Amino acid sequence: LRNIVIAIDGPAAAGKSSTARLVAGKLGYLHIDTGAMYRAMTLKALRSGVDIENVKAIEALAETSRIQLERNANFPRVLLDGEDVTEEIRRPEVDRAVSAVSSYGGVREVMVRLQREMGSRGGIVLEGRDIGTVVFPDAELKIYMVANVDERARRRQKELEEQGIETNLDSLVQDIIQRDEKDSSRSLSPLRRADDAVVLDTSTMTIMQQVEFIVEKAKERIQSE
Ligand code: DC
Repeated sequence: LRNIVIAIDGPAAAGKSSTARLVAGKLGYLHIDTGAMYRAMTLKALRSGVDIENVKAIEALAETSRIQLERNANFPRVLLDGEDVTEEIRRPEVDRAVSAVSSYGGVREVMVRLQREMGSRGGIVLEGRDIGTVVFPDAELKIYMVANVDERARRRQKELEEQGIETNLDSLVQDIIQRDEKDSSRSLSPLRRADDAVVLDTSTMTIMQQVEFIVEKAKERIQSE
């Protein structure tokens, strides 16, 4: 049996992270939340005070940043230059700036290189926007997760509430629509379904149903290898 690469892509707040984490747990695979990497980079840019439109300065920051994903018990931690920023990267300020930062070529180059290194031996679930199209175009299993925007906003609101952050549903809907628009229309590695990706609409599915669906598909692919 071979260790395959599972690529999960889709728009903002479609439920990719929780599902990917549980799928990885069931298969004993590593889970890589690539959005968290772009978020950590964005937090660094915001903190540094450089103009978010200053491509060159932000690309230079990416070259000198250390971004690590760590397994801590069963919840993954995100480290930026050694500091735990797991909670901070979910803040709405980061949400609003991350589409700009992740559209810069020099930033993507650094992140994609790291992602390919982490996945080079297979046995991995990566989730993001360009995993099946750019990072691992030969992934054995590609899932494209979607859900209607109201449901996605409700899920994001619940997630933020759990962290003690109160938000307004309408503004979350607007943020999500804008982020999808920017992520889909950028010139480098835009959000797009790979031709060979299986579409999974999670609007009315529980997390466990999503996990089962993907694990079943993964087992089929693992057995046919
Ligand atoms: O999955 P997320 O919402 O945490 O991702 C945050 C942002 O990072 C998303 O709006 C676009 C960017 N991103 C990307 O450009 N490529 C990826 N593979 C993952 C995320």
